[in-house]
Amino acid sequence: MDLNTVGVVGCGLMGSGIAEVCARAGYRVVVREISEALLRSGLNRIEKSLGKAVTRGKIGQGQADQTLGRIRGTTALDDLADCDLVVEAAIENMSLKKEIFAELDQILPPHAILASNTSSLCITEMASATGRGDKILGIHFFNPVPVMPLIEFVRTILTSDETMAIAHEFGASLDKTMVTAKDTPGFIVNRLLIPYLLQAVQVYEDGLATREDIDTAIKLGLAHPMGPLTLLDFVGLDTTLFIADAMYDEYKDPRYAAPPLLRRMVLAGHMGRKSGKGFYDYT
Ligand code: 3HC
Repeated sequence: MDLNTVGVVGCGLMGSGIAEVCARAGYRVVVREISEALLRSGLNRIEKSLGKAVTRGKIGQGQADQTLGRIRGTTALDDLADCDLVVEAAIENMSLKKEIFAELDQILPPHAILASNTSSLCITEMASATGRGDKILGIHFFNPVPVMPLIEFVRTILTSDETMAIAHEFGASLDKTMVTAKDTPGFIVNRLLIPYLLQAVQVYEDGLATREDIDTAIKLGLAHPMGPLTLLDFVGLDTTLFIADAMYDEYKDPRYAAPPLLRRMVLAGHMGRKSGKGFYDYT
């Protein structure tokens, strides 16, 4: 199957990054947001990111312009009717995702593949909202999408070999390295990352060390690009809590139980970088 047009549902942090890398790889991209304001802000984020790529010498201005020219924004899901592959990157809400999957199942051509970028929700449940379970999989990107070289594929018991082969061709065309996981909460990366981040919050809450020392210890002791509390601020405390709760809900394992401080920081609106305050102050 020839992949020409890629649809992206959601133009937030992840959706805009996914739209950008797809357009950079030469695909025509149709990206859908629920309002003109959110769409404008998502498309601005793509423009800024391309500008940064030009400044850093990753691409030329001509390539940035061509990339932008391949992206069409819309607020109508119907405009995804010509897509060969769609990546859903809407908010992490299962009933919303199932609605989107059911609608797209009606709109998309029969050959089209439908993927979710969810970080922890059940792909099989999304597939159950469609009549094309063999063409459904998880394609999990990492933030920032243009920089992080990994894609995690999530294969359900329904996903066909043909769909996996097309997904691999797609991932290779984006110049990403690919790994494949079974459809279980957290897949590979978050299954390992979430207990580590939760433990970092617990260690901080216990007063073992300052936040700076916890981050410095991991950054320099283990050569990580960011310490865990900086990474929590980067990923978003609300996002991390959502993933932890989803994993705890499924496994009932204390390793995925959020420490009280994390829940209270989210309740207080301290979500990390995006809200201006998390473990550190960004205002
Ligand atoms: N397009 C292309 N390249 C870009 C770019 C863009 N928009 N923005 C930055 N880059 C390139 C830079 O040119 C640079 O490349 P170089 O090393 O070849 O010079 C590289 O990316 C790093 O950029 P910066 O120098 O601006 O930034 P830093 O060196 O401070 O790195 C970071 C920033 C990449 C965010 C780094 O701190 C990092 O890797 N942090 C960890 C991120 C991480 O763990 N992400 C995963 C989160 S978990 C997730 O997403 C899963 C979800 O389910 C929770």
